[in-house]
Amino acid sequence: MSIEPEKLAIHGGRPVRQTPFPPFPDYGEEEIAAAVAVLKSGKLARQSGSKVGEFEKSYAEKFGVKHALAVSSGTAAIHVAISALGIGPGDDVIATSHSFAGSATPIVHAGAVPVFADIDPRTFNIDPRSIAEKITPYTKAIIPVHLNGCPADMDPILEIARKHNLFVIEDAAQAHGAQYKGRMAGTIGSFGCFSFWEDKLITTAGEGGMVLTNDDDLAKKARMVHHHGELKEDGAYYKGERLYLHSMLGYNFRMTEIQGAIGLAQLAKLDGYIQQRRENAHLLTELLSGVPGIIPPYEPDYAFHVFYKYILRIDRKVINADAKAFVEALTAEGIPCSRRYPTPLHQQPVFTEHRGFGGGKAPFEKPWYQGETNYGSGLPNAEQLPGELVRIMMRPTLSAQDMRDVADAVKKVAIYFGVEG
Ligand SMILES: Cc1ncc(COP(=O)(O)O)c(C=O)c1O
Repeated sequence: MSIEPEKLAIHGGRPVRQTPFPPFPDYGEEEIAAAVAVLKSGKLARQSGSKVGEFEKSYAEKFGVKHALAVSSGTAAIHVAISALGIGPGDDVIATSHSFAGSATPIVHAGAVPVFADIDPRTFNIDPRSIAEKITPYTKAIIPVHLNGCPADMDPILEIARKHNLFVIEDAAQAHGAQYKGRMAGTIGSFGCFSFWEDKLITTAGEGGMVLTNDDDLAKKARMVHHHGELKEDGAYYKGERLYLHSMLGYNFRMTEIQGAIGLAQLAKLDGYIQQRRENAHLLTELLSGVPGIIPPYEPDYAFHVFYKYILRIDRKVINADAKAFVEALTAEGIPCSRRYPTPLHQQPVFTEHRGFGGGKAPFEKPWYQGETNYGSGLPNAEQLPGELVRIMMRPTLSAQDMRDVADAVKKVAIYFGVEG
């Protein structure tokens, strides 16, 4: 039985949702008081205050790892991990093509080159089979991303890494509290990297990041990379005075005390946020079940998904619109949404044109890198899926009624574009 489509808002019909969705982050008195206390103390840098150190300690405890290092962003976290592992010019690192640029550009910042692998069409995470095909004589590491809050399939990735003697750096920027077979995302590889950017699962005043490791030596190196190649705990830092001794190439990737203090307050809220996100996502999936052409997010058996984003896939055999047209129509219905990473990373000009340091070709070409980069084409899922993926906003501040409005609007648009509609 075909259903008569309603007039879409984009064509002058009445929008399903006419009021704004609740904002996020929803900083409360705790975060505000914590930030004000730091301001009043006058101790704003981690060298003089104690909040960043406390945040690191609490984060390490919460995630059950030996070492946590707070940094200025998720991008810096990945850069620190790569550099601490000694990866640099001449090396390559396997990365996923379907992610935010910050998953791959730190490879270049560290002087190495990304080699992109294809994705699994159900989870949208890096496909272990593709990783195995992409390894080169220059490969030193793999960076799986736990995208949208869904953990990547780590066992086969770890197996490939073991076989080829590669490091694994987890990009858990979107997956605080997600679990793979009961293990916390970000605690499985040599390093786990998190972002606290403004809309992440928890956030530290707009920007911030964290690096986790269980390895004492790597933890020490990471700390040096993030602070000008000096190590405070090292005898070479203080001998009655600060020696200003820089024993490796380092950066200023330090987190501020205000960020650390806010991070402590946010960490206490993480479990509640995750519960709310999961309830919202599961309700939305239930409301959308049976809508022709709409494929809700897949939750593998191994996964505890934390739904940083809710990604719908549209079945182009059933829906006569691509993601762009679908998003335009859904936006007009009052639903915050977007396409999901419309240009895959292996097709980004920075990579296809080898736009490296100083506008030149370093580190993508000889004499720096001896291999051939695989940019431009050849990753079918990463190239096809952006035309089918719609990102629906998912926040712990949303209510069941918000989810009903999203579902009603998605149904309305899906029916309109339905091949039989
Ligand atoms: C998957 C992924 N990796 C890396 C990053 C980089 O994090 P940041 O924006 O904190 O530098 C982000 C975030 O935005 C991300 O979503």
